[in-house]
Amino acid sequence: MNNSKYLFPRDFRWGAATAAYQIEGAWNEDGKGESIWDRFSHTPGKIAGAHTGDVACNHYHRSSEDVGLMRELGIGNYRFSISWPRVLPTGKGHPNEKGIDFYERLIDDLLESGIEPFVTLYHWDLPQTLQDTGGWLNRDVGHYFADYSAAMVKRFGDRVKFWTTINEPWVVAHLGFRTGEMAPGIQDEKTCLQVLHNLLLAHGRAVVAIRAADSSAQCGIVNILFPEEPATNTSEDIDAAEFAWQKDCAWIMDPLFKATYPAIWDSMGDKVPDVRAGDLSLIAQQLDFFGVNYYFRCIMSATSGRILEIPGAQYTDMGWEVHAPGIRNLLTRITEDYRLPPLYITENGAAYKDELSGDGRIHDTQRIKYIRDHLIEIHQAMVQGADVRGYFYWSLMDNFEWAHGFDKRFGLIHVDYETLHRKLKDSAHWYSRVIRRNGLDEVLSLKQPMVV
Ligand code: FCB
Repeated sequence: MNNSKYLFPRDFRWGAATAAYQIEGAWNEDGKGESIWDRFSHTPGKIAGAHTGDVACNHYHRSSEDVGLMRELGIGNYRFSISWPRVLPTGKGHPNEKGIDFYERLIDDLLESGIEPFVTLYHWDLPQTLQDTGGWLNRDVGHYFADYSAAMVKRFGDRVKFWTTINEPWVVAHLGFRTGEMAPGIQDEKTCLQVLHNLLLAHGRAVVAIRAADSSAQCGIVNILFPEEPATNTSEDIDAAEFAWQKDCAWIMDPLFKATYPAIWDSMGDKVPDVRAGDLSLIAQQLDFFGVNYYFRCIMSATSGRILEIPGAQYTDMGWEVHAPGIRNLLTRITEDYRLPPLYITENGAAYKDELSGDGRIHDTQRIKYIRDHLIEIHQAMVQGADVRGYFYWSLMDNFEWAHGFDKRFGLIHVDYETLHRKLKDSAHWYSRVIRRNGLDEVLSLKQPMVV
């Protein structure tokens, strides 16, 4: 750290994030409807170890304990998602009051603990009944999404200010409909691009509906972004990296912030989506914030595509390269390319094989270093002009990591899946100190992650 101090603005928001399907469990309790992730995880062969989110962290029955841990750590902002089929079992129609009650209690608990709720309306658990009518390939699902969003804002808008429509449209479309590794497991690129368009449209409709329900709501969307770097400085590799950026990032950012699709549209042949009159202006709603999720960069070569093995690189347990400067590069690029609302880092984090040591603690020093290095880069990006207002570590606790099941542990809090016992890792104590200091300084060395 060279005795440097990286202090953040006084009102910078420190937080942690989760998502309903990954932590709640109680998949069929109290009237909850089936989601596409229930269906997917119950399908043999889809999830490592045949794990499911049926119980997960059992947060549905332990939310007050989890809020208590956040309070103990001083985490002042909590990003979580509402399970659409828990509150509207078939995706539309009458709400399920018991499901609503769960979120009522959670939100009240958070506010009593001085924790600001950041609610995500869609973190991937579409009601299965809507999937049965075509899911996101059906444009009309966006109308149901807007109705559901407005219903939630009417219920909770007196207490919740920050509303995110969709978490990572890129992942929903590309991994759910192109590679098929996520629900609903479809493999077709044309379908993927149509779904992406329909998701953006659903987002636009939801923002309009949310604002009509509560004009003071702060609305945003969250996306994952990958800085794309050329493997060498040949013009071919530079072009390959730029093409990948246009395809993965600008394909979502341009409609949202410029009401257009990028020029590479012309090279997509008959894979381009059906876009109707008025769609793009509906998508490009004025937003109150934009959420950036960052995990890794992509290095592109014109001849061999994405390079996965980078000499000397370090990788997390997900096999994702650790590259903190990537977050600065992408924040400065999007700040240059777009007129953006305030930014939040809505996810950033690392999975490691955390083990309980002989002294009964979890010394996850690699995670501490990961967070520290990323915070330094975020701080630098802010100095260079990126308007970042907060940071949410992914994740508050170990949880169901989608197709990877429970083996990938991202949490600040360790979860023992046999007993469901929670235990604060060293990183949780360390992060707590960062929050209390509002940044990093030389006292927060890596060697001695101190207990609060
Ligand atoms: C993101 C997801 C989140 C989690 C992290 C590791 O893409 O939004 O739910 O799985 O990756």
